[in-house]
Amino acid sequence: MVDLTLTDEQQDLRELAHSFAEKDIRKVAWDYDKDGTWPQDIIEKAWEIGLMNTHIAEEYGGPGLDFLSGCLIEEEMGWGCSGIGTSLMANGLASAPITLGGSEETKKKYLGMLAEAPKLASFCLTEPDAGSDVSGMKTRAVKQGDKYVLTGSKCFITNGSYADYFTVYAKTDPEAGHRGISAFVVDADSPGVSVDKKEDKMGQRASNTATISFSDTEVPEGNLLGEENHGFKLAMMTLDRTRPGVAAMAVGIGKAALEFASDYSKERVQFGVPIAMHQAVAFMIADMATKVEAGRLLVWQSAVLLDQGKRNTLAASHAKRFSADSAMEIATDAVQVYGGYGFIKEYPVEKLMRDAKIMQLYEGTSQIQRLVIAKELLMGRQADEETPEHKALKAKENGKAETEKEPATA
Ligand code: CAA
Repeated sequence: MVDLTLTDEQQDLRELAHSFAEKDIRKVAWDYDKDGTWPQDIIEKAWEIGLMNTHIAEEYGGPGLDFLSGCLIEEEMGWGCSGIGTSLMANGLASAPITLGGSEETKKKYLGMLAEAPKLASFCLTEPDAGSDVSGMKTRAVKQGDKYVLTGSKCFITNGSYADYFTVYAKTDPEAGHRGISAFVVDADSPGVSVDKKEDKMGQRASNTATISFSDTEVPEGNLLGEENHGFKLAMMTLDRTRPGVAAMAVGIGKAALEFASDYSKERVQFGVPIAMHQAVAFMIADMATKVEAGRLLVWQSAVLLDQGKRNTLAASHAKRFSADSAMEIATDAVQVYGGYGFIKEYPVEKLMRDAKIMQLYEGTSQIQRLVIAKELLMGRQADEETPEHKALKAKENGKAETEKEPATA
């Protein structure tokens, strides 16, 4: 039976997140966007009231909430301001590889760090010459005794200037393509780590995006996540877990744009009636609303599959692709409903149009989502199929040593 009713806890969490987005984020969002202000004050408050790190399990100090709950929060953050929302939610991306592949000691230390204080972590995958093509990365990790030595540069790193640690992907076997990548946790204050560049962005200007470089940076071998040369799959499994949340944030942007456009269409009078009375405008509003509703359903489906312990690769890409493209379309149409005023910074919707654009780019472009969808469909894999890697890593995550023996196929 399909039941889309939220539990009381989920409903309460959604209301808390909405109220925070309304009272603490919205009131400064357009100012923070203008100056690219880092939202440290909002991060601290969000952490304090339990809206950050909701995915961290109870044994490491977190609330261990389900993925659907995380998506409810992310939609509200996207509604408030997706730039600030991205700053608040990026810990989920950085810490997922630790949850999936970290040793008990690593999980206690690095997940615990986020649960104990409003600290930040960043996910370092992308490189100047390796964006969509992850396996083309050049960052190297060379084993020397009981440590690895990392050298290379990562770009477009969310929260990079403020992170306390990074989860970094590097080639441990450069000849082996995607089967030669490993993942590590690297402390931000390790010798050889530098923050090279803060990007000046079109949208989501309150979020921080930096380049992080590693120059002969020594990392203890215990900070290897999962097995050596299995980092590519760890990255893909991480993105399966975080794309639903990104899609939820896109739904939030779409909902905000829909509300602004809808309100404005009832106030703005042209040809003697509010423009909402003109079918050309009313139908735009109707299409915007359908996209928000459909996007939310795809988000919920992709999160619930995870909560059921099933592989959600296909559903996550459907959700991310549709919600991101819809956010862009809805925000563009909202500007259209505002007419010339929509193009002016004094009005709220041009920010949403700029913010929406990145949703089609980060955590896998809309074209990459289509590639994943096509591969999943054409390879004929079942949407809820469990891969050996998923079973083994999930068992590890749940502390069931016996299923760890299942073979990983890489
Ligand atoms: N789960 C587990 N395994 C997976 C998987 C998944 N979801 N997807 C693929 N794999 C496995 C495959 O089964 C295959 O396994 P074998 O080695 O056993 O054959 C292996 O991984 C390679 O798969 P592909 O052949 O499909 O790999 P590919 O090189 O063609 O790349 C891709 C696939 C989908 C294009 C991938 O590279 C990708 O997702 N690219 C986009 C990267 C991305 O999203 N970057 C965003 C960075 S994060 C960000 O934006 C952060 C920020 O701070 C804002």
